[in-house]
Formats: sequence, C-alpha cells, structure tokens
Amino acid sequence: MRKPVIAGNWKLFKTKDEALALITELASKVKGVTQVEIIVAPVFTVLPTVKTALSGTDIALSAQDVFWEEEGAFTGEVSPRMLLDAGCSHTIIGHSERRQYFSETDETVNKKMKASLKGGLIPIMCIGETLDEREGGKTFEVLERQIRGGLADLPAEVVKPVIVAYEPVWAIGTGKVATEGQAQEAHAFIRGVLADIFGRGTADATRILYGGSVKPDNAKGLMACADIDGALVGGASLKGDTFASIVRYNE
Ligand code: PGA
Repeated sequence: MRKPVIAGNWKLFKTKDEALALITELASKVKGVTQVEIIVAPVFTVLPTVKTALSGTDIALSAQDVFWEEEGAFTGEVSPRMLLDAGCSHTIIGHSERRQYFSETDETVNKKMKASLKGGLIPIMCIGETLDEREGGKTFEVLERQIRGGLADLPAEVVKPVIVAYEPVWAIGTGKVATEGQAQEAHAFIRGVLADIFGRGTADATRILYGGSVKPDNAKGLMACADIDGALVGGASLKGDTFASIVRYNE
C-alpha cells in the first residue's frame, strides 16, 4: 500500500555533461520499472538540464535544499517557486550535512517544510542521530525532537505527501550501514511518533526511507523490513548501474 521510493542524492557532484551522462544511463537501465518511485536530486545548476533529459521517463526531480521565502533580498538562496519553475517536484530538507556544516536546525527545517508544502513541493525530510547520540542512548529522543520540530504546526492533511528519510549520521558515506534490526527499530519508532502527532492513518501512509551506505547488496534486506519504504542513496547513486540495481532491488 506504500509505494517504495528510491531517491538518489547526488550531493556536490556532477557538472552538466556528467549529469547528462548519468541520467541517460540511468533512464535506460530503469526503463519499465513502475512499482518503484524513482527520484534524483542533482545540484541546483543542472536541474533544468536534467529535467529536459527526464522527459518521457517517470523519474522525478528533486532539489537538495530550499529556502523558505518566495523571493526577496536573500542572496544565494532558492525558493520553492523557483524549484518548481526549474522542474522539481520534490526537495530534500534537513540533510545531516546541512545540519552539520550549514547551521540547519529543527526550526529552519520547519520553515522550509512549511514553505515547500505551501508552494506545492514534496519535502523529503531527513532526520538521524550521530554516533555519540546513539552510543549515549539518545537515538529515540533525538529522532522524536527532529520529527516534532520539523513538522511543528502542520496539520495532518498538509503533512500527507511528506517523505521522511531516516539517516543515521554515522552510516552516511562511511560504508557502515545500520543493521536491518537497527533500521527497522528506528523506522517503527518514527512511525509511532507520526501516529501520535497526526493519527494512525497519516502515519501508515507516510513513506519512511532509510539512508546511509545503501548499496545494491544491502538494499533488498533493508527494503524487506516492515517499516522501511525506500532508500535515500548518496554515493551509490552517482553511477547508473549501481543506482539502477538498487531501484531493481526486488528483481
Ligand atoms: P551515502 O549517503 O549513501 O553515501 O551514505 C546517503 C545520504 O547522505 O543521503
């Protein structure tokens, strides 16, 4: 009942030519896949180029971040309206790298969530604990704070399209994937918090993706967990064949 989502976060990689080569290869390798929603998130500068290359495919386009104002004197920022104009249907919000290097907080995540949903962009909201927090027994406390903070003051009917990505910070780009047990436990907890805030119906309909060193050889096991509805893939999304293998995890 929850359609799986496999999203590729290209981070700060790929110039125009490289992006075109990647998307062309990917599109041909995932041709005919209908049971999985596929999303790619390139850097801002190549969004329109990738959008053009995606025509005739079912692959959706996402940004990696967004600002909360529609327009104005905000040098360097990009608004939901501009992302829609560039062809995006989705945007990542609150990625741990933005929290770590660019002072993103639950409050700024919340502003971005509100502006995106108001503007008609589907947010992929990232949450996840650091290694210190996990080892200090704080995982659930951190996840709950990030969910409640990021989704504050949003009614259930507005939150419905939101995709949540659970990305333990210690698993991102490290090759240290969470075990299926660790990931499922966190996902079930996240769904429970969503149910507590928005009701069972919304919680059961929300796709919760796992992110952190997802590769072709661990995707299937993770995806088999009851509360894991997809993957947010970094490193392995930069090659057409590996990302396509993850998309085709079930074949
Ligand atoms: P990774 O990144 O797959 O390279 O660990 C995941 C992410 O940061 O979204």
